[in-house]
Amino acid sequence: MQQDMIVILDLGSTENTVLARAIRALGVYSEIYPHDITPEELKRLPNVKGVILNGGKNNVIDGKEIDVDPELYHTGIPVLAVSHPYDPDDSDAVVWPHKESALKEALKPFVFDVCHAQPNWNMENFIADQIELVKQQVGDKKVLLALSGGVDSSVVAALLIRAIGKNLVCVHVNHGLMRKGESESVVEVFQNQLNANLIYVDASDRFLDKLKGVSDPEEKRKIIGGEFIRVFEEEAGKLDGIDYLAQGTIYPDIVESGTKTAKTVKSHHNVGGLPEDMQFALIEPLKQLFKDEVRACGLALGLPESMVYRQPFPGPGLGVRCLGAITRERLEAVRDSDAILREEFHNEGLDKCVWQYFTVVPDFQSVGVRDNARTFEYPVILRAVNTVDAMTATIEEIPWPVLHKITERIINEVAGVNRVCYDLTPKPTGTIEWE
Ligand code: XMP
Repeated sequence: MQQDMIVILDLGSTENTVLARAIRALGVYSEIYPHDITPEELKRLPNVKGVILNGGKNNVIDGKEIDVDPELYHTGIPVLAVSHPYDPDDSDAVVWPHKESALKEALKPFVFDVCHAQPNWNMENFIADQIELVKQQVGDKKVLLALSGGVDSSVVAALLIRAIGKNLVCVHVNHGLMRKGESESVVEVFQNQLNANLIYVDASDRFLDKLKGVSDPEEKRKIIGGEFIRVFEEEAGKLDGIDYLAQGTIYPDIVESGTKTAKTVKSHHNVGGLPEDMQFALIEPLKQLFKDEVRACGLALGLPESMVYRQPFPGPGLGVRCLGAITRERLEAVRDSDAILREEFHNEGLDKCVWQYFTVVPDFQSVGVRDNARTFEYPVILRAVNTVDAMTATIEEIPWPVLHKITERIINEVAGVNRVCYDLTPKPTGTIEWE
């Protein structure tokens, strides 16, 4: 089954994804394409029921005014202009409402009455379509997936297990810098519950040995990234007959990689640093989905909420939260204090409203007192931020009693820690992570 589609043509507006999401919220699939798509290219796309021009034609890219090919108006496909003073009659232009509910209402007559699009975009249809597509594409060949335990790779794994079962080979590299219980939960969910073909590699010692004595943050990141590639390549090298590599690329990765019109927000390498010379064809079954749709897909596939609503976690893991040269003692202090923070945030329902929260352990000690004796131990720093795009961030106001409880638990339960501090620094000036 192919779902009906409304195409949004990008004329340099930053609101393309808002529009696409509003249309999808109406149950109709929508994708963003560059403004200079030709009428032939447009007609070749499956089930296009309507086109929305988003942005003014007076937008200028590289010194040139941009506009769509005027032939697009004669394809027979309905066209709606949003904030686009287009010929022949400006009066059809829609003024941009700013709330999603108002936007949905404004779009309804065009989507349903003019384009007659069917509201057939939902997770059940998406999953059924993707399973069919992957089966056709892969046949009885094998697919390799680096399963980090993050939301995107977990959902890819769950989807591909449904499509090709044991022909999906998942490799989970535990670099020793995972949060408490995360690698265990990958094994429990994928190997024990979903019966996946999972290769679990405990490379903790190898990573920690490489990182010994290294205090420069960039150097640490390079070592972790480089070592990850080596471990993954070694594991891939032991396998025979792999033709495909699956990736958790999602729609914002594609949009942010830049169309011809849009400025590139970031180059997209959703491979966790996997080498480009690996000779596999790519499978990217989530590349049509926004993040909330990926989560909905994961839930529909039976993944646990804790996995699907996992907060963002940096590739180098706790390695960038155990500041300076990593020691096993301080790494455990980060892991244990992080687990307490997460548990208490969950108990208070704060995990639903705070975007990212974690603990950091610096590489200096301070004087304290416990049971009438002097201590000289490490502090734990708490960080809890809210953000839309991680480019800027604000500090979450955590209720005082919650901060007290977390502090109490950390100083009592985490070995080698005698102080807890709360980081009040927004981004800018502080980045979200400390390293
Ligand atoms: P910063 O510290 O730059 O972080 O304000 C912004 C967001 O990016 C996450 N982050 C990373 N994510 N690999 C990732 O996949 C990384 O190396 C990395 N470093 C930072 C960080 O957790 C925050 O959400």
